[in-house]
Amino acid sequence: MKTMKKLSSFLITILAIFLSLQHSTSSYSSFDNFLTCLQNHIPQSSSVIFTPTNPSFSSLLLNHTANRRYTTPTTPKPLAIITPQNPSHVQVAIICAKPYGIQIRIRSGGHDYEGVSYVSQVPFVVLDMFIFRSIEIDIANETAWVGAGATLGELYYSIANKSDVYAFPGGVCHTLGTGGHISGGGYGNLMRKYGLSVDNVIDANLVDVNGKILDRKSMGEDLFWAIRGGGAASFGVVLSWKIKLVPVPPKVTVFNVKKSLEQGATDVVYKWQSVANQLHEDLFIRVMPMVVNGTQEGTKTVLVSFIGQFLGQIDRLLPLVNESFPELGLQKSDCIEMPWVNSTLFWVFGPNQNPIEVLLTKLKPPTLFFKSRSDYVKEPIPKSGIESIWKLMIEGGDNVWMQWNPYGGKMHEISPSETPFPHRAGNLFLIQYYASWVKEDIDVGHHYMEFSKKFYAFMAQYVSKFPREAFLNYRDIDIGANPSGVTNMMVAKIYGSKYFKENFERLVKVKTMVDPDNFFKHEQSIPPSRHRLF
Ligand SMILES: Cc1cc2nc3c(=O)[nH]c(=O)nc-3n(C[C@H](O)[C@H](O)[C@H](O)COP(=O)(O)OP(=O)(O)OC[C@H]3O[C@@H](n4cnc5c(N)ncnc54)[C@H](O)[C@@H]3O)c2cc1C
Ligand SMILES: *[C@@H]1O[C@H](CO)[C@@H](O)[C@H](O)[C@H]1NC(C)=O
Ligand SMILES: *[C@@H]1O[C@H](CO)[C@@H](O)[C@H](O)[C@H]1NC(C)=O
Ligand SMILES: *[C@@H]1O[C@H](CO)[C@@H](O)[C@H](O)[C@H]1NC(C)=O
Ligand SMILES: *[C@@H]1O[C@H](CO)[C@@H](O)[C@H](O)[C@H]1NC(C)=O
Ligand SMILES: *[C@@H]1O[C@H](CO)[C@@H](O)[C@H](O)[C@H]1NC(C)=O
Ligand SMILES: *[C@@H]1O[C@H](CO)[C@@H](O)[C@H](O)[C@H]1NC(C)=O
Repeated sequence: MKTMKKLSSFLITILAIFLSLQHSTSSYSSFDNFLTCLQNHIPQSSSVIFTPTNPSFSSLLLNHTANRRYTTPTTPKPLAIITPQNPSHVQVAIICAKPYGIQIRIRSGGHDYEGVSYVSQVPFVVLDMFIFRSIEIDIANETAWVGAGATLGELYYSIANKSDVYAFPGGVCHTLGTGGHISGGGYGNLMRKYGLSVDNVIDANLVDVNGKILDRKSMGEDLFWAIRGGGAASFGVVLSWKIKLVPVPPKVTVFNVKKSLEQGATDVVYKWQSVANQLHEDLFIRVMPMVVNGTQEGTKTVLVSFIGQFLGQIDRLLPLVNESFPELGLQKSDCIEMPWVNSTLFWVFGPNQNPIEVLLTKLKPPTLFFKSRSDYVKEPIPKSGIESIWKLMIEGGDNVWMQWNPYGGKMHEISPSETPFPHRAGNLFLIQYYASWVKEDIDVGHHYMEFSKKFYAFMAQYVSKFPREAFLNYRDIDIGANPSGVTNMMVAKIYGSKYFKENFERLVKVKTMVDPDNFFKHEQSIPPSRHRLF
C-alpha cells in the first residue's frame, strides 16, 4: 500500500515535470494560440487584453499589488493581464487557456501576502477582476450582491449610503478585494458577534473550469462550502457574492488605549489573554504590540495598543470594562462614539476624523516590502514568555508588530466543519506577525526575513501544535508550498492541514469533483485526488 502510494506520487511528479517542460519549450506558440483564441471571442479585445508591450501594462500590474517584495526586476511577469468587463470574458479566458496549458492567476484586490494572485514561476496570465465592482444593497431583505473586484471600503461605504444600522463582518483594510478576502475567510472586528465574512455569505456566482456560470443552486452545496474559506482560486473564478447584512447600532464606540512596558503593559496583556475571549460579544479588543523608540536616544522598546470596538455607547461600555477588565483602566476620555462606517476608518487611520469618502480610495503601488505569518494560541502565554517576546521583537527592530485578535462569542458557536475555516472553539486568540521595510536593500530584506523565521521558531512553544495552525488569508509560503506548475499531494497535505485541519480532505473531494485535471492551481492550492488520474 505504502509503496503503491510512493510509486504513484513519483509518477505524478514525473508527469508534472514532463508537462511543465512541455509548457516552457512551447509556451510562446501556446501563448500566441491563446491570444488568438481570446481575440476571436472578445470584441474590442484591445481594452481587455494587455501584453507587456502595452504602455499601460506596468501600471496595471502594480495597481493591484500590495507587497513590494513581489515587484522586483527578478519577479516573473505575466504574459498578459486580462481585465474582464463582463462574465463572458471570464468564460472565454478559461476556455481559451485550457487547451494551451496557460496557467491563470486570479486577482481581485491584490493583497495576497505572497503575491500568489499575480506571480508564477511558469508562463502565466493574470485575470484581473477589478472591473467587477458593482454593489447592490437590499436593505429590506438585509442582503447585498457585491462584485469580486469591489473593495471592502466600497462595500462599507455603499452599505452606509443606504443605512447607518447595517454592517458587514469583514477585514480592516478598505482596499482589500472581496474576491480574495471573502474566499479566504474574512476576519475582522465584528467576528465575536457575527463570525467571519464566510459565515455571512448566502450565494455566489462562479465560473467553473468548463466556463460555466454557476450560482449556489447549480454549483451544489459542496462547491459552495469549499469557496467559503477554502480559497476560491482552487475551484473557479468568483464573479460576485451575495452576503447577509448584519445589524449594528447607529453609534458604536471605539478606543485605543496605549500602554508602555513601564506602564505595566505586560501585566495587562497577560490578563487580556484570559478575559478578551470571555467579554460580552459586543466588545472586541485587539492587542497590538509594536517596536518604537525608547525614551533614551537610540534605544527601542515595545508599546502595546489595546484597540477596541463596542457595539453600543460609552455609558454601557464603561461599567462593562470596569467589571470584567479593570486592568485596562479605560476612561471615558479614551472613547469616541461614531457611526459604524466611520469606525472602519478609525481602525485604519486612528482617531483623525477622515471623511468616509476615504473608503473609496484605491490601493496605491506598494511602498512597503513585508512578511507576515499567523499562529493560534490555545493556552495563555506565561508572563516570562511575554517578556521574552518583547525582547525578541526589539531585536527585530523598527516596523515589527503583531496583532492579537480575540476569539469567543460567535466564533466558538460555529462548528469547525461548517465552512473550510477550521479555527473555531478552543482558541484564545489569533496572532498575526508583521514586519515591513522600505529600503530596497538585500541586507535589510535579509534581516527581516531571517527575523521572521527566528521569531516564528521561538513562538512554537506557545502556540497550536500538530498541526501548527495557520490562517489562509495570512498566506505564508514558508509553512509549505509546491512549485508553481506542480501540485504534489504530500506537500499539499502539509499546508492544507495547517490551513484547514480535517476540512482538507473534503476540499480535496470537492476539487476532484469539479476540477479533476487541476486547471486552477497555485503554490498552495487544493489538489485533486491522485486516484482519479490512475
Ligand atoms: C493591509 C492588509 C490588511 C489585511 N487585513 C485583513 C483583515 O483584517 N482580515 C483578513 O481576514 N485578512 C486581511 N488581510 C489579508 C487579505 O484578506 C487577503 O490577502 C485576501 O486574500 C486579499 O484578497 P484580495 O482580493 O485583495 O487579494 P488577491 O491577491 O487578489 O487574491 C488573494 C487570493 O484569492 C484569490 N482570488 C482573488 N480573487 C478571486 C476570485 N475572484 N475568484 C477566485 N479566487 C480569487 C487569488 O487567486 C489569491 O489566491 C489583509 C491584507 C493586507 C495586505
Ligand atoms: C492605475 O491606478 C491609477 C490610480 O487609481 C489610475 O489613474 C490608472 O489609470 C491605473 N492604471 C491603469 C492602467 O489602469
Ligand atoms: C426580497 O428578496 C426577494 C427574493 O429575492 C424578492 O422577491 C423581494 O422583492 C425582495 N424584497 C424586497 C423588499 O426587496
Ligand atoms: C449615495 O446614495 C445617493 C442616493 O441614495 C446617490 O445619489 C449617490 O450616488 C450614492 N453615492 C455613491 C458613491 O454611491
Ligand atoms: C527613532 O529614533 C531614530 C534615531 O535613533 C530616528 O531617526 C527616528 O526618526 C525615530 N523614530 C520616530 C518615530 O520618532
Ligand atoms: C468600577 O467598579 C468599582 C467597583 O467594582 C467602583 O468602585 C468604581 O467606581 C467603578 N469605576 C467606574 C469608572 O465605573
Ligand atoms: C463620520 O463621517 C461623516 C461623513 O464623512 C462625518 O461627517 C462625521 O463627522 C464623522 N463622524 C465622526 C464622529 O467621525
